[in-house]
Amino acid sequence: MNKTELRRHMRRQRRALNRRQRQQAAQQLLHSLRQSTHFQHSRHIAVYLTNDGEIDTSVFIRDLQRRGKTLYLPVLHPLRKGHLSFLPFNRQSRMIKNRFGISEPDFASHRAMPARFINLICMPLVAFDESGNRLGMGGGFYDRTLAFSRQPGNKPRLIGCAYELQKTAALPAEDWDIPLTAIATDAGLHRFC
Ligand SMILES: Nc1ncnc2c1ncn2[C@@H]1O[C@H](COP(=O)(O)OP(=O)(O)O)[C@@H](O)[C@H]1O
Ligand SMILES: [Mg+2]
Repeated sequence: MNKTELRRHMRRQRRALNRRQRQQAAQQLLHSLRQSTHFQHSRHIAVYLTNDGEIDTSVFIRDLQRRGKTLYLPVLHPLRKGHLSFLPFNRQSRMIKNRFGISEPDFASHRAMPARFINLICMPLVAFDESGNRLGMGGGFYDRTLAFSRQPGNKPRLIGCAYELQKTAALPAEDWDIPLTAIATDAGLHRFC
């Protein structure tokens, strides 16, 4: 399968799960994330809101909120095309829908946090392999936004969140793909560095 076919296949697979399977996987995802010291100890953590059949993040977001973490959500950068910006997210956040129909904090009423000061970024993915390569929706948003992390200096740890069924044999790693620290699924935590 090429990348386009693989994306279509995986998105169909995860959409086919029923409500009970989703709820159970969301609990198991939290359990897997808790095995990461970065999830336990990071203070500034970026999360994302579930979209397009992605594994449900609401359970682990509530856990982080209860533990008093400072959370951020990605928003489409209004000026830098193809880049994300991270805005603070709490129960009071004013939300609006972006052009993909995904809720995000209103850029006008929040101050962005530079990605290099975020300790941990939990990100969605469409497929992953045993080496920690990530296939996204095809926009390259996280790759572009995190390209700075190839240079020395502050950088966030990166944890992909997915269903175990999104694992595939081997993905082509492109020059611009940013490797992940770990991937958490309903079946456990895969660590890569
Ligand atoms: N750092 C970057 N600078 C410029 N373009 C990039 C960068 N990272 C990714 N892209 C572009 O984004 C597009 C999608 O990237 P890809 O890795 O296939 O998507 P995804 O990570 O969403 O699966 C590619 O055409 C690639 O050229
Ligand atoms: Mg990529």
